[in-house]
Amino acid sequence: MSNLIVLGTQWGDEGKGKIVDLLTDRADVIVRYQGGHNAGHTIVSNGEKFILHLIPSGILHPDKLCVIGNGVALDPQALVEERDMLTTRGVTVDKNLRISDACHLILPYHRAIDKESEKFRGTRRIGTTGRGIGPAYVDKMARIGIRLGDLANPALFREKLEQNLAETNYLLEKLYTTHGLDAETIYGQTMALADRILPFMDDTALTLHHAIRDKKTLLFEGAQGTLLDVDHGTYPFVTSSNSSAGGALTGTGVGPTAIDRVLGVTKAYTTRVGSGPFPTELINESGEYLREKGQEFGATTGRARRCGWFDAPAVRYACRINGISEIALTKIDVLDALPTLKIATGYEIHGKKVEEFPRRVELLEAARPIYESHPGWSQPTSGVRNYDALPDNAKRYIARIEELIEVPVTVLSTGVGREDTVLRQDPFAAR
Ligand code: IMP
Repeated sequence: MSNLIVLGTQWGDEGKGKIVDLLTDRADVIVRYQGGHNAGHTIVSNGEKFILHLIPSGILHPDKLCVIGNGVALDPQALVEERDMLTTRGVTVDKNLRISDACHLILPYHRAIDKESEKFRGTRRIGTTGRGIGPAYVDKMARIGIRLGDLANPALFREKLEQNLAETNYLLEKLYTTHGLDAETIYGQTMALADRILPFMDDTALTLHHAIRDKKTLLFEGAQGTLLDVDHGTYPFVTSSNSSAGGALTGTGVGPTAIDRVLGVTKAYTTRVGSGPFPTELINESGEYLREKGQEFGATTGRARRCGWFDAPAVRYACRINGISEIALTKIDVLDALPTLKIATGYEIHGKKVEEFPRRVELLEAARPIYESHPGWSQPTSGVRNYDALPDNAKRYIARIEELIEVPVTVLSTGVGREDTVLRQDPFAAR
């Protein structure tokens, strides 16, 4: 047995989809544990591009079991659409998918609140994906959420829905001065979708327990990134779930002793979508270059991502928070043509030198990065599959990152395809 969490160490979009897809061969069960269809995991399989938002990336492998754990916020409409997209493209989504009965549902009023509250916040808006993620998790914590299991009891569902809408419509109409939503319409729409979703419903914590007992290999697929974690990220500019390793436990019902390793996926530079501090952001030609060369446009919303240099204290912080045992460094090929590369090794905050990532957002907003420069390699690394074939300066850049983040880089991604990878050490191999 070797159970692995794969998660992002920056602000999401690190290339987790590809790494999960690559490692899926060695796993039996692939589990999503947090977030919802705000995620966009891009996978290129046999030259075909898939973007998955909600269903685990393992679904492209028909012999694997895919699980959506209780920590995921589930939009019934998005789930049905994603399943339809996959089945029309020849991917089986049937008994190989199980969804926790304790998943909280994202319903149309969550999307309405997400949109209106962002408008209301003005310049302090978070820049959410507008998918209703935050409001659905708010209801979960306020103990008024509606869970997938509730759809199996239509009378109970209707009662909860009517009660929630009475409150929500007050907010929509009186505070946000927009129109409220009709309970009957939402009831009808959701129940029509329920028939297509309930066959996947399961006590997934028990299913996972049985898999662990039977010595199956589990791969936990994180969404977003550590710096977007609601507890450990750049709060309040975060998502509303625990995208760090702890979320893999609370979001599935699996205990900590079942986890063997944590693989952090890290981009060779930094990107961020939405608002919030980003000390190494490049608002200049270099930033434009990274965006174009790296195709840094959101897989979910199509928004242009903000781009910047590698921020070592930020990734070192993520390694600490998650207990990361190894790193998959992605998109190194995007840096190929740059004559000089910079890495932030610390910050200057209000005139003081600081080595570690500050937890308070106002300190991070004031942080000016302290950089060291590295010569580029002016040579293509794209598609390289062997570490020794990398240019010396690329090896030096990677070695310096390892030194600064205090964790080894064991996987390198040099392109979008599964095969464009250098595997220095198999994360599933016994050690
Ligand atoms: P929400 O998750 O839609 O509430 O958005 C909160 C913040 O997380 C915003 O800054 C989003 O841009 C960001 N975010 C959410 N999901 C992703 C993702 O999959 N990749 C990158 N950023 C994300």
